[in-house]
Amino acid sequence: MSTKKVFIETYGCQMNFSDSEIVGSIMKSIDYEVTTDINQANVIFLNTCSIRDNAEQKVNRRLRELRSYKKKNPDLKIGLLGCMAERLKEQIFNEEAVDLIVGPDAYRDLPNLLNVAESGQKAANVILSEEETYAEIEPVRLDNNGISAFISIMRGCENFCTYCVVPYTRGKERSRDPQTIITEAKDLFDKGYREITLLGQNVNSYHWNEDSDMNFSRLLEHIALINPLLRVRFATSHPKDISDELLYTIAKHENICKAIHLPVQSGSSDVLKKMNRKYTREWYMNRIEAIKTIIPDCAVSTDIIAGFCDETEENHQDTLSLMKWVGFDYAFMFKYSERPDTVAAKRFDDNVEESVKSRRLDEIIELQKELSAISNKKDVGKFFKVLIEGVSKRSSQKLFGRNSQNKVVVFPNHEFKVGDYVNVKITNCTSATLIGETIE
Ligand code: 5AD
Ligand code: SF4
Repeated sequence: MSTKKVFIETYGCQMNFSDSEIVGSIMKSIDYEVTTDINQANVIFLNTCSIRDNAEQKVNRRLRELRSYKKKNPDLKIGLLGCMAERLKEQIFNEEAVDLIVGPDAYRDLPNLLNVAESGQKAANVILSEEETYAEIEPVRLDNNGISAFISIMRGCENFCTYCVVPYTRGKERSRDPQTIITEAKDLFDKGYREITLLGQNVNSYHWNEDSDMNFSRLLEHIALINPLLRVRFATSHPKDISDELLYTIAKHENICKAIHLPVQSGSSDVLKKMNRKYTREWYMNRIEAIKTIIPDCAVSTDIIAGFCDETEENHQDTLSLMKWVGFDYAFMFKYSERPDTVAAKRFDDNVEESVKSRRLDEIIELQKELSAISNKKDVGKFFKVLIEGVSKRSSQKLFGRNSQNKVVVFPNHEFKVGDYVNVKITNCTSATLIGETIE
């Protein structure tokens, strides 16, 4: 008998990619193999995202496409996983293609749910948990270059930023047993991995109750001490609790990458208040000053939302001026998208015109392009240690990797291997990439 196959398509954030690896592992335990060929699949999972309306629309379009796969293969089962499953619950069964609905905390129940689905009934589990961290499950590494891996260290979020659906779809914040995290990291290193990204909605609030000393800085240090050849990254940090202790830990260890993703969302204290971000423009500037003082070579990236409720032209200018002041190296930029049932949807008016939102977003994107170009130009002439990730997409004669600051560096291939560290002198750049020559 041939093994059954599952095809997993992942949308949205890194957390979802990490969850898909847990799902892969749970499916493996019931003898499913993960396939990259959708036509061979007995089961198709879409691991979905609800963060903005267009993320959900994309999945809806995909579900409509998948109807034809079911026509070809009536035994095919389709499962909706992740944030959309949690947000829409049984409602999505009206979409005829879906057989299973599984929220982010219910993946251990997949074997049972599949049994139900195979008997011809629809199956759902969208119960959120206060404890589930999938701590001891060894993820199946998907999409993998054998060098970089994610480790999820906490789940959920209780910050309740007024625009954000995540606290509703991913539930209460909980941290994973540090011992299981350290063991997973050591195991990855032994298997040849050289870069680990610790993931959580808000990694700075990591804490483990059974060992009150174990906070995020200490955990990061434990991982860094596994081996100097193992690089450590993390995402995402909330500006309200990025501590000096954490910054000193980053500065102390060469293998903790000098790159902090610190979503600002807006440069206006009034807008930040309405967003319930719990910090002001001045607080954010103070944190940036601390980063630049304690870790002078640290890159800073951010997330920005254009056109939140009541955002005035002056508020928008505050965002642009803050971006210039910080000089972000990179940014993810979005138009505000109202999410049902959030505080903003219930209490505020989504009153910035679509055309104004678009224009403000364009201005933000334009400015960020300039800032990224300035940041890259500053690196020309500098030397960086680069971890090689693969062959450049543009030329087989070239390799690419990243420096500690998370910038992509392209350089000629002189018989190096993926996973090697090389020293590169930067000789040129585009707004997206650094170009260089390796040196001895
Ligand atoms: N509309 C637009 N962007 C949003 N984000 C979160 N919720 C929304 C929303 N309703 C953005 C924030 C967050 C990133 C992951 O997505 O910038 O940091
Ligand atoms: Fe959403 Fe705010 Fe939590 Fe981030 S910190 S997931 S933006 S509620």
